[in-house]
Amino acid sequence: MSKITVLEIQKMKEQGKKIPVLTAYGFSMAGILDAAGVPVFIVGDSAGMVEAGHATTLPVTLDEMIYHTRAVARASRRAIVVADLPFGSYQASVEDACRSAIRLVKEGGAEAVKLEGGTHSAKAIRAIVAMDIPVMAHIGLTPQSVHRMGGFKVQGRSEAEAEVLIEDARAVEEAGAFSVVLEGIPAGLAARITSMVKIPTIGIGAGPRCDGQVLVVNDMLNLSVDGKGPRFVKKYADLKKVITGAAKAYIKDVEHGRFPTKKHSY
Ligand code: KIV
Repeated sequence: MSKITVLEIQKMKEQGKKIPVLTAYGFSMAGILDAAGVPVFIVGDSAGMVEAGHATTLPVTLDEMIYHTRAVARASRRAIVVADLPFGSYQASVEDACRSAIRLVKEGGAEAVKLEGGTHSAKAIRAIVAMDIPVMAHIGLTPQSVHRMGGFKVQGRSEAEAEVLIEDARAVEEAGAFSVVLEGIPAGLAARITSMVKIPTIGIGAGPRCDGQVLVVNDMLNLSVDGKGPRFVKKYADLKKVITGAAKAYIKDVEHGRFPTKKHSY
């Protein structure tokens, strides 16, 4: 089975084929999703929130991202693996950005990296691309900027903000990004950016007219502990219910001596 490449992802836009993307953080889930045909995994720093219980993505370290990326890469026979550069691993200097990207590829097995920011991240994108590491950009609601944004809020609602985001999209394309995530922006603005740039746009909370869509896998499977989730999420399964049912059945079986039986014993 051959791996999907960034060139194929770009061709999908040219051919008008939508690009389904999911996040993945571990070996088992990535293996199941890969076999189901998901063509692109983002090993997101959202891992810090949905897997480690942090309130933001800011505490996630590069070593943690390498750990998650390795597990996903081992399971991905076909899907391309795009790994997030976490907060602090690329903002201070272009050299930091390059070294961090190299680690995600060399130690994590990523085939591409993703970083947040538009115009301000263009230098880092250009330098990483110059090392032959494909870069996915990420603009709009960029979770690593949570404190500047005053929370996880939709961006680009005013015309002035929309202009800034359009400039950001142009800047990341010009810097050589092979695609760009548009997160938490109005659907009309996402459609404008999608028709303006040649690289595929991958939307999350950005309406239906992006070239692809991404969801946090824990959200779409209803795997969150508190059961809440953003409004833009469609829940495709209720694994919280399935797991709760299985755990309760197991507890009862053990308590009543119904497990293990002869068939589970040596
Ligand atoms: O961290 C993440 O999971 C992401 C995707 C949702 C795009 O950035």
